[in-house]
Amino acid sequence: MSGDLQFDSNKRLRHLLSIDGLDQKTILEILDTAETFISVGERQIRKVPLLRGKTVVNLFFEASTRTRTTFEIAAKRLSADVINFNIGASSTNKGETLLDTINNLEAMHTDLFIVRHIDAGAAYLVAKHAPSHVRIINAGDGRHAHPTQALLDAYTMRQYGKDFKKIKVAIVGDIMHSRVARSLIHILNILGVPDVRVIAPKTLLPVAIERLGAHPYFDMYEGLEGVDVIVMLRIQRERMQGALIPSEQEYFNLYGLTEEKLVVAQDDAIVMHPGPMNRGLEIDSSVADSDRATILPQVSNGIAVRMAVMALIMGGNQKNKGAEN
Ligand code: CP
Repeated sequence: MSGDLQFDSNKRLRHLLSIDGLDQKTILEILDTAETFISVGERQIRKVPLLRGKTVVNLFFEASTRTRTTFEIAAKRLSADVINFNIGASSTNKGETLLDTINNLEAMHTDLFIVRHIDAGAAYLVAKHAPSHVRIINAGDGRHAHPTQALLDAYTMRQYGKDFKKIKVAIVGDIMHSRVARSLIHILNILGVPDVRVIAPKTLLPVAIERLGAHPYFDMYEGLEGVDVIVMLRIQRERMQGALIPSEQEYFNLYGLTEEKLVVAQDDAIVMHPGPMNRGLEIDSSVADSDRATILPQVSNGIAVRMAVMALIMGGNQKNKGAEN
């Protein structure tokens, strides 16, 4: 969907719309740059001047806690001015289209839009019509893509010592409705992960999942056998039409991650979740709150990863400059 729109004529990242279409070098450059930004959050003055004078607009047409807030913190740590556009109080309610809203915000000399939208392809549409100086980052579009989530998940796996070339990763739950799962499968394949699994009931698996680069399992004990990383996904009731799971209790019994099921994974396997999580539905609290869980570190890493993406698309590789200031 994103085609070549993501790169400029010099093959430099211009917009971040999806993981699909990125190469391993670009992904590793983002992860390495993020590593240099982690320390910024640990300083007394948590700021570097990379985006001073730039205006970043958070444009979220769908609810968010983690992505919107970490983008805002990331932009502020890069010294940008940040506008959190209030959709509920905007002229969207009077029937203004997405592109007209964007055109009006662009007329206010803004530089970067972070776009979350219920429709797949929304960020792509905005990027296609954006003037050349404006940059777009997809913060989640329908079921299609959530590229910065995949990047922060990959960052977290590497931070916990997982070697992409050797690990087994299981993604569990509502694969069908999950943009997180799609982006994650893409990034793991690009990074050379040899064994990517999805575990779900048939009703929550898209057809031809193997073509996307993941092996399907329908039984938790089989799918979790020997894995190094477990990524639990939220049951997305708001995207379901009709009953796709028998009952919450039965779903938890079969697919909820418990200490008992975790036993078949590697002893040092980590448990990830992009949030928001449904305790007692896809994950038991005893696992979510255990030291195997990386759920809160994922959120913290999201700041550094989003700083890296913004720095790279706004000004090329600012790795060293960012670390020095
Ligand atoms: N992981 C994630 O996208 O969370 P939010 O919906 O809270 O942004």
